[in-house]
Amino acid sequence: MTEAQQVIVSIEQGILSIELNRPDKKNALTNDMYKIINEALVKAKTDEGIHVVLFAGKGDCFTAGNDIADFLDSDIAFEKKEVVRLLRILTNFEKPIVAGVHGSTIGIGTTILLHCDIVVAAKETKFALPFVPLGLCPEAASSLLLPNLVGHHQAAELLLLGEAFNTEKAEKLGLINRVVETREVRLQAMALCQKLTSLPVNALLQTKRLLKSAPNTVEERISQELDVFGKLLQSKEAKAIFQAFLNKC
Ligand code: COA
Repeated sequence: MTEAQQVIVSIEQGILSIELNRPDKKNALTNDMYKIINEALVKAKTDEGIHVVLFAGKGDCFTAGNDIADFLDSDIAFEKKEVVRLLRILTNFEKPIVAGVHGSTIGIGTTILLHCDIVVAAKETKFALPFVPLGLCPEAASSLLLPNLVGHHQAAELLLLGEAFNTEKAEKLGLINRVVETREVRLQAMALCQKLTSLPVNALLQTKRLLKSAPNTVEERISQELDVFGKLLQSKEAKAIFQAFLNKC
């Protein structure tokens, strides 16, 4: 199998689908695989035909995380590794990202979900953040995003002990949106992508931007939203939707 096939990238009806495809190694992510993902995401940033991104895994899991052999590869300086580039791309990525996960969803397999917008998980998914047990520390801003999402004590347990946790816990913590049967994961995640692509694109992008913008006061956020709201109100897209509604009345 060539490196290119270890990540299957396809574009269909406004959806960029990125599927990990290294099932013999539990979809463990190598530098070359990250590179393919990064190239696809960079293209998606500027391609107006792409409205939504889907992450999923082929085989029996989403991913067992970073390839451990790659951790030992010192040919590439750490800051030059494609995984670092991926994290920077995701931080500023403006289009909605949906993930469909199943089976082992470990390390960056879990932390990447903190950068996704909607997550569909199979009932038997096993999540884990085993950085400390591996002698490492959290990445992908998970030491900030996870406590923000689930509170210090829950985040500390997950990040300090690094033990696996199940879908029930992930759902309770708010790390995932929907729980489905394994065979339904891709289908349901794709259905969400299709739903998102059917929505007014500018409204979608501006809403994600607001959701991801740095925390500010309620007052400041009201002003920030009003600024965007006022512009969207004047957009051709919104006006056409209002007119279509009025024409039906
Ligand atoms: N990096 C490199 N190879 C990996 C890997 C990883 N993160 N995870 C799995 N593999 C490889 C195994 O070495 C094995 O290769 P082999 O068939 O050549 O021996 C193959 O994938 C299958 O894995 P195996 O451990 O036999 O499957 P399993 O079903 O018993 O267990 C996991 C699956 C995911 C629970 C287990 O492989 C695991 O714990 N992986 C490491 C997870 C991890 O710590 N990731 C790093 C996060 S920072």
